[in-house]
Amino acid sequence: MHPSSLPSEAHVWLLAGAEDAAASQLDGLASLLHEEERTRAARYLRAVDRARSIVTRALLRLTLSRYAPVAPDAWRFVTNRYGRPELAEVPRSAAGLRFNVSHTEGLIAIAVARDRDIGVDVEYIERRLTHDIAGRFFSPAEVHDLRQQPAEAQPRVFFDYWTLKESYIKARGMGLALPLEDFSFHLRPDGPPTISFAPALDDDPARWQFAQGWPSEHHRLAVAIERRGEDLPVHIASLPLEHVAR
Ligand SMILES: CC(C)(COP(=O)(O)OP(=O)(O)OC[C@H]1O[C@@H](n2cnc3c(N)ncnc32)[C@H](O)[C@@H]1OP(=O)(O)O)[C@@H](O)C(=O)NCCC(=O)NCCS
Repeated sequence: MHPSSLPSEAHVWLLAGAEDAAASQLDGLASLLHEEERTRAARYLRAVDRARSIVTRALLRLTLSRYAPVAPDAWRFVTNRYGRPELAEVPRSAAGLRFNVSHTEGLIAIAVARDRDIGVDVEYIERRLTHDIAGRFFSPAEVHDLRQQPAEAQPRVFFDYWTLKESYIKARGMGLALPLEDFSFHLRPDGPPTISFAPALDDDPARWQFAQGWPSEHHRLAVAIERRGEDLPVHIASLPLEHVAR
């Protein structure tokens, strides 16, 4: 995944096991963060959540610095009105650089593209689930499809829908301000998923490209990328913690 390939590719950087970082590694990574990021990490009660928060923000900074000659600790962020972090004071060398971040138990993902909206979601799938969750968050078509599935396939399909829905609302930058029941994913055995919208949600299915992955047998990943002409190849790469936190 070379930085210069970004205009014609989307990249997803993964890091597993941030929760296992040693105190010395966390200190080094925390030194890359802005004061506000350190304060936010310190608010978490559990050490694993503090560690994941520090590693996430440091990984975001180190990742962005792969694509522009800006020091990791020099990036400045603002959040949009729905909470999405975005670049503030974008230097010319980073023009058009877009990113999105997701973290879950055991895994962090940073998705990067140029000049396109992008959203990523990773979920740890070894959680107890109930149909109530699907009934509350999924569209009627998605709930119907989920219930048609054999019992053993349902947890996997549940997380297919969950991660795809999150990737879309994150690419739009609006989070849960977008009504989740107003769009439906269509899982296809022979190709990437597609989306359709209820009339209330003013968007065009042709505007979106989706990709999925299994970063580990316990984690599902989905990426939503704004389409501008050809689909972008999506490259996914894993970074060892030792590579990031020396
Ligand atoms: C905040 C939200 C955008 C993602 O939350 P999530 O899936 O729990 O968490 P993720 O780790 O994937 O994403 C969180 C990151 O997304 C980014 N983010 C926050 N608001 C965002 C927004 N409006 N758009 C895009 N990205 C956003 C931030 O970087 C955030 O990380 P941070 O809190 O450490 O800064 C939102 O969708 C949400 O609250 N979801 C709750 C889960 C839910 O009910 N999902 C229904 C699924 S069908």
